[in-house]
Amino acid sequence: MVKTTVSLIKADIGSFPGHSRIHPQLLEKAQKMLSEAEGKVLTDSFVTHCGDDLELLMTHTKGVDSPEIHKLAWTVFTECAALAKKMKLYGAGQDILSDAFSGNVKGMGPGVAEMEFEERGSDPLLCFMADKTEPGAWNFYLYKVFADPFNTSGLVIDPGMHEGFIFEVHDVVEKRRIMFRTPEESYSLLVYIGAPSRYVVKHVFRKDGLIAASTSTQRLSLIAGKYVGKDDPVMMIRAQSGLPAVGEVIEPFATPIIVAGWMRGSHHGPFMPVGLCDANCTRFDGPPRVICLGFQVANGKLIGPVDMFDDVAFDRVRSRCNELADILRAHGPFEPHRLSLSEMEYTTLPGVEKELKHRWEKIPE
Ligand code: F6R
Ligand code: MG
Ligand code: MG
Repeated sequence: MVKTTVSLIKADIGSFPGHSRIHPQLLEKAQKMLSEAEGKVLTDSFVTHCGDDLELLMTHTKGVDSPEIHKLAWTVFTECAALAKKMKLYGAGQDILSDAFSGNVKGMGPGVAEMEFEERGSDPLLCFMADKTEPGAWNFYLYKVFADPFNTSGLVIDPGMHEGFIFEVHDVVEKRRIMFRTPEESYSLLVYIGAPSRYVVKHVFRKDGLIAASTSTQRLSLIAGKYVGKDDPVMMIRAQSGLPAVGEVIEPFATPIIVAGWMRGSHHGPFMPVGLCDANCTRFDGPPRVICLGFQVANGKLIGPVDMFDDVAFDRVRSRCNELADILRAHGPFEPHRLSLSEMEYTTLPGVEKELKHRWEKIPE
């Protein structure tokens, strides 16, 4: 049976005004380019944005890490960046970190989440896209969905997932990976993924090997060795029939949590689930936002999207996020609103230290 591959590849290639949203002309151009590739390299495609990030969702039969698919995404990003430059949009080409494509967009700026699978009788797929935060922001949600029975009742009462799941965790600093089996290794898993700036869940598998989730793990600051913008991650989760139900996958987003990112990638802020109409960053360049688009994958075709957070059931979490935003903003330049010194993506510290070096004196014993 032919397997279906779903590739969700994103990049910030310029926005307006400032870092708030993608211009409609860029969305149009990207969708036109992908639509032209349908029936050739692609089976289906859908283009959208979350804040200042252009999101390309593509289905095909080429498998993950396909040079053809990555090349197509790269061409869309570079051509859209050229248009953004012409329009003098802000940060045009910001995530295009290299001039020459060499077979894979990983490590070149864009974020990538991909999954190849044999379609089940019916295959619901949830695509999450975030702006103004980092890839580790998904860790909390993936744990809740696949390992917390207080969130996912199916872990307790559905024989199809009672055995638990396997989490593939990447250490983005040392570039190494490890597998954890849950529930038996949950506490060890949490030791790592509770530190999301360094340890990121890349994939989740059912114990029988079925792929259930995939995220982007690229950290632009580590790729470039300097600040080049937050990594604004994406994530895909398959649902139902022996996997968490759609409702169990989106349930943890009803609780507000605090993530790293927001203004200048250097502040903690509430992670706000919003409908597409609100996927634009405003207040203090945020707050960090997440959208969720639901599809059915049918012979590689994407039936949808359904805008999952455009719903009154998520009004309360949005209002709680606004409350938390007020509380954190009141801290101004103080931690814990501002990130710790080592995590900040912008810093004036080296310059200030140099200037004040001669004024520091030893405190007498
Ligand atoms: C965060 C982000 C924005 C910018 C901020 C300053 O990821 O994109 O918050 O960091 O608007 O941008 P510059 O330095 O370009 O003026
Ligand atoms: Mg930007
Ligand atoms: Mg962004």
